[in-house]
Amino acid sequence: MFTLGIITILLLIIIFLLLNKVFYDQKQNKNKNFPPGPNCLPIIGNMHLFDIKDPSKTFTQLSNKFGPVFSVQFGMQKVVVLYGCDAIKDAFVNHAEEFSGRADIPIFKETAKGYGVVFAHGENWKVMRRFTISKLRDFGMGKKSLEDRIIEECDSLVQIFKSYGGKPVENTTIINTAVANVIVSILLGYRYDYGDPTILKLMNLVNENFKLLGSPMIMLYNTYPYIVRWLPGGHRTVFKNNEELNNFIRETFTRQKSQLDVNHQGNFIDAFLIKQLENNPDSELYFHNDNLMTLVSNLFVAGMETTSTTLRWGFLLMMKYPEIQKNVQKEIEQVIGLRQPQIEHRKQMPYTDAVIHEIQRFGNIIPAIVPHATTQDMMFRGYFLPKGTHVLPLLTSALRDKKYFEKPDEFYPQHFLNSHGHFVENDAFLPFSAGKRRCAGENLAKAELFLFFTRLLQTFTLQAPPGTEVDITPVVGFTNAPKIHKMCAVPRHND
Ligand code: HEM
Repeated sequence: MFTLGIITILLLIIIFLLLNKVFYDQKQNKNKNFPPGPNCLPIIGNMHLFDIKDPSKTFTQLSNKFGPVFSVQFGMQKVVVLYGCDAIKDAFVNHAEEFSGRADIPIFKETAKGYGVVFAHGENWKVMRRFTISKLRDFGMGKKSLEDRIIEECDSLVQIFKSYGGKPVENTTIINTAVANVIVSILLGYRYDYGDPTILKLMNLVNENFKLLGSPMIMLYNTYPYIVRWLPGGHRTVFKNNEELNNFIRETFTRQKSQLDVNHQGNFIDAFLIKQLENNPDSELYFHNDNLMTLVSNLFVAGMETTSTTLRWGFLLMMKYPEIQKNVQKEIEQVIGLRQPQIEHRKQMPYTDAVIHEIQRFGNIIPAIVPHATTQDMMFRGYFLPKGTHVLPLLTSALRDKKYFEKPDEFYPQHFLNSHGHFVENDAFLPFSAGKRRCAGENLAKAELFLFFTRLLQTFTLQAPPGTEVDITPVVGFTNAPKIHKMCAVPRHND
C-alpha cells in the first residue's frame, strides 16, 4: 500500500514536470518581442535568483543588466517589472487605461473572488472604486466629518500615551487601534476602546495575514496553487483569518440592514445598503452583499496596516533624529500653539509637511505592490505586451531613485524643501502608486498622518528608552515595517 502511494506520487511529479516543460517551452517561444530578462529554469523560472531576505536587491541587479523594463518568471508566471520613476509613470500615467488591470494572484483570487475594489476587474472595479472614493471624500457622511473622526481618535491616543507617564511602551497595538478606529468609524459608525477584545481580534487577523502574505509558503502557493493547496501551511491560516473577518462583516451589515434609516447615512455600510435599495440596474449588478463584504474588508485591511506602519516609522525616525523632531515641534508652536491641529494648518507648515513626505519615502512601506495586468494587447517602449500580462511597478525604485533624490538612502527632509524653506513636490514621490489604480484612500491617509503626527509631537517628546540605540533597519515582508521597539512619550506640558 505504502509503495503504491510512493509510485503514484512519483508518477504525478513526472507528469507535472513534463507538462511544465511543455508550457515553459511554449511560453519562451511565443513572444519574441517581450521585455528581456534572465534565462529561466524549468519549474522555478527565476525564483532561484532572488535574495529572499531582500528581493529589491535582486531587482536592482536585474535592472542594471536589462534596463528599466524587464521580465522575470516566478514559477510558470512571467511578470514585467517597471523599475524607476520614469518607467512607472510612463506606463501608469501615459498608458493609464491599458495598465489599469489587476493581476489574478491565486491567494487573492481565492479570498476576494473578484469582488470589492483592490482585486476586482473591469466594470465591477470601476463602480466600486467610484463609490469608495466618493464616500471617503464625503467629509460630511453622518453628522461627523472625517476630520472630526480623526481628531476624536487623536484625543484618545494622547490619553493612552499619557497614562504611561513617559515610561517605555511597545506602540504597535496602540497605534494600530487608533488607525483601525478611524476606518471602523467610517465603515461602521462607531469606535472601540483600546484593549477591546473585538478590535484586538480583528487587528490580529489582519496583522497575521500581512505577515504571512510575505512568507515563502505563500509565494509557493501563488506559484503552484493546485498542488500547495493540499498541503498544510500558511495559506490555510490566511483563508481561515479571511473567513473570520468576513463573518464579522456579514453579521455587522445584516444587523445594520435591519435598522436602516434611508434618510440617515450614518456610515459607509449604510450608504452601500441604500444603494442596494435604489431600483436601477447598478444596484442589482454591483451593489450586492458579496461586493459589500469584500469592499468593507478591503478598506479595513488597506486602511489599517499601511497607515499605522507609516506612523510607527515616523515616530521611530523622530526618536532617531531628535534635531528634526525639535524643528517640527518649533513649527507646531509657531503655527498651531496649543490649539487642536487641523488639516488646514498643513499648508502653513512646510517643514512638517516635508518631514511627513520624507517619512513615507524613507519608510517605503510597500516596496512592491500587488501587480497590475494589461487590459489589452499593447506596445510599450518597443515591447509587445499581450492582454493579461502581469506588471509589477517597484515603488521602492521610484522612492529611492537617484535621479530624483539627492540622498536616496538617507532620511533627509530637504528632499521636499527648496532653499527658501518652501515645500516642493517631487515627481518620484509615489508611495500611493500612480494612475488609475493609485491608492483610493490617499486623502484619508494623508489627513491621518498629518493629524496623528502633529498631535503627538505637540503633546510629547518621543525618545528611545534610556541606554538603548534606535535601530531603523526594516523587517522585510509584504510591507516594510520597523522592528519591534519601545518608545517613551514624555509629556511636554504640565496639564
Ligand atoms: C500611508 C497609507 C497608505 C499607503 C502608503 C497606501 C498605498 C497604496 C498602494 C501603493 C496601493 C496600490 C496601488 C496600485 O495598485 O497601483 C493602494 C491601493 C489601495 N488603497 Fe491604499 N495606501 C494607504 C492607505 C489607505 C487607506 C487609509 C485606504 C482606505 C481606507 C486605502 C485604500 C486603498 C484601496 C481601496 C486601494 C485599491 C485601489 C484599486 O485597486 O483601485 N489605502 N494603496
